[in-house]
Amino acid sequence: MSEHAMSDSPNKNASGLDRGEVTDVSDLHAAVLRERPDPIEGREPLNLWMVVFVAALLFWAGTYLTHYSGGFRADEFSERQINPLPPPSESGPSTEDPTTKSAKEGMAVFLAQCSPCHQADGNGVSGQFPPLAGSEWVLAEGPNRIIRIVLNGLSGPIQVKGSDYNGVMNGFRDSMDDKQIANVLTYIRNSWGNKAGLVTPAEVATLRAATKDRTEAWVPADLLKLPVSGGDASAAAPASGGLSPEALKEALKKLPPDELKALLQGLGN
Ligand code: HEC
Repeated sequence: MSEHAMSDSPNKNASGLDRGEVTDVSDLHAAVLRERPDPIEGREPLNLWMVVFVAALLFWAGTYLTHYSGGFRADEFSERQINPLPPPSESGPSTEDPTTKSAKEGMAVFLAQCSPCHQADGNGVSGQFPPLAGSEWVLAEGPNRIIRIVLNGLSGPIQVKGSDYNGVMNGFRDSMDDKQIANVLTYIRNSWGNKAGLVTPAEVATLRAATKDRTEAWVPADLLKLPVSGGDASAAAPASGGLSPEALKEALKKLPPDELKALLQGLGN
């Protein structure tokens, strides 16, 4: 009966579906699926460039803090910290070895005063200007002779590294101070493969005073008669008749450590 009633309805077709009704609803649902929920205010995806920019900003800020935060120490910017009482000159040089420092300062003096003859590479000019690189005069244990050479000059036959020279070098007594002479000698003693000790302004001052009346240049043969070390009064003393053990100890203490080492090694041989 009901079957009859249904088939009776003008809107039903033979298969029992409404007119226009389809069994495959995916087309219908497609439209629903296509729709997205309304976006919620404030949850829009971030702009990529904004992410990159913020990341870069954070990185910069971190780097800045690492460099300039002063370790977040409370006293970082206090007056004492900025202007520490012991001036930099006291902590500065102690980090640099005195020989290196003196040689560095001596380089400029050398280039201005000595390199025209002895050349910047210390090799001199064959037959005219003797080399300083590898020179036994320069590498001598002590600077007793070379300080005198720079103070008063040198003239007469000289042998350096097996070659003969006979030229004239003028002295620098009036044009260079003790510090300049000490620095330039430290420089030539520690350059081009040379390895010898530090020359101090005090050593130069001592010899300058000891030879203050001398005006003429040294003659190499005369210099060879002088001891290589013993520029200062204490080391010169043995010539005048020996030292007590105490005085000898004091004199040795006054030597620069590298000279002392070289001296002791020399004695051991
Ligand atoms: C005008 C050229 C001239 C200048 C500048 C000059 N010298 Fe000399 N130097 C000579 C000559 C020449 C001799 C060798 C002298 C001789 O024959 O007796 C010599 C010898 C020496 C020697 C001993 C020999 C050797 O080769 O080791 C030393 C050390 C030396 N000079 C260092 C210096 C230093 C340091 C300076 C700069 C402060 C300097 N000279 C500037 C020409 C010069």
